[in-house]
Amino acid sequence: MDTLNIRNKNLYLNDVKLEKILKGKQTPIYIYSVDQIKKNIKEIQTSFKKAQPLICFAIKANSNINILKVLKKKNIGADVVSMGELKLALKAGIKPNKIVFSGVGKTEQEIKFAIQKEILSINAESSNEIELINKISGKLKKQTNIGIRLNPNIVAKTNKKITTGNKTNKFGVTIENFYNIITNKEKFENLNIHLLSVHIGSQIKDILAYKKVIKLIDNILIKLKEKKHSISYIDLGGGMSIPYFKKDSKFNFKKFGIEVDKFFKKHQKKIIFEIGRYLTGNCGIIISKIIYIKKINDRFFVILDAGMNDMARSAIYESFHEIIPLKKNRKKFVKKIEFVGPICESSDTFGIYNNYFLLNEGEYVCITNCGAYGRTLSSNYNMRPLIEEIIIDKNKYRTVRQRQKIEDLI
Ligand SMILES: Cc1ncc(COP(=O)(O)O)c(C=O)c1O
Repeated sequence: MDTLNIRNKNLYLNDVKLEKILKGKQTPIYIYSVDQIKKNIKEIQTSFKKAQPLICFAIKANSNINILKVLKKKNIGADVVSMGELKLALKAGIKPNKIVFSGVGKTEQEIKFAIQKEILSINAESSNEIELINKISGKLKKQTNIGIRLNPNIVAKTNKKITTGNKTNKFGVTIENFYNIITNKEKFENLNIHLLSVHIGSQIKDILAYKKVIKLIDNILIKLKEKKHSISYIDLGGGMSIPYFKKDSKFNFKKFGIEVDKFFKKHQKKIIFEIGRYLTGNCGIIISKIIYIKKINDRFFVILDAGMNDMARSAIYESFHEIIPLKKNRKKFVKKIEFVGPICESSDTFGIYNNYFLLNEGEYVCITNCGAYGRTLSSNYNMRPLIEEIIIDKNKYRTVRQRQKIEDLI
């Protein structure tokens, strides 16, 4: 997180001392840096010299409308997976012609709404879904642009819970199925199949798997020419990783951009990406207060007021985030500590740290890199309200979502 920095032993986000924001506030709190998002957008957009792809933000990563507005101003579109996300994207001002709709289980109601809004592409994931879109389009007297999501059976090296391109995953159609649909496209008189999409997973660290996808699509495009079917858009999905700890490697966007540019030069198809984590992951933090510190045998449990209901990634994927105290002024180290939440589950843990600073009850820590799949995976488990969200833009900050009230949950 480039915008997170220590000055005079105090933690800052952009130019704002985090301790200052906490005055009168109830923790835990999500805080996002607009400056960091803008940096990320610039890095991505300048990695492609020729392809000039349409970057659609995968809203499942972060659904704060103020963040969507920042992205929209920088020409970013949206990748949505539900009626809720589609309505949110439109409300944020994102134009329908920059919205793609993914997902294996779109309902009739969702498809109807997407057709009426004339979005860029409904990316279908089965022949049954294509038949349904065709039927609804006919009833609405519309010609609908759709994409087909391919399951390429390419294994991305990442957590098995977030791989999506294997033949054992529920996503997309097989290559045989894809050709079969294209060969029989006349059956779908109300559809224009104009896009091919692939998304093989999330938090993918190297570009090898993407190279395999590009090679596969290269072959498919050659075969499609023989079948006299032309595709206008290639949607390469998202999945680019971010470092969660300083020692983690960074996804090489520049190198990736060169590969995509080569592909673009050969086929001249409009390229789309559905990027979530890489755009907003490192823009967000959670500030949490230490409620208790207790010792069981040789381990210190640091019990935070943030739990797995506020930030579920560690509990679901066992993926841990660097945690930094707000005040860095310590000499003594504790051999082994575990940051945990207050939820009644042993999976409510934020990880074990060795040789950590000595901490005190009542002080604050910062859980880093929570800007993607943080708030969006939150729940009211244990009857806990969803927490406040604050945005920092340069040195100004404001609350952009209030903390829920317990009464509203009741
Ligand atoms: C279809 C689709 N597109 C895009 C994404 C975004 O992935 P990421 O946040 O890793 O970029 C996902 C997330 O899993 C997805 O399922």
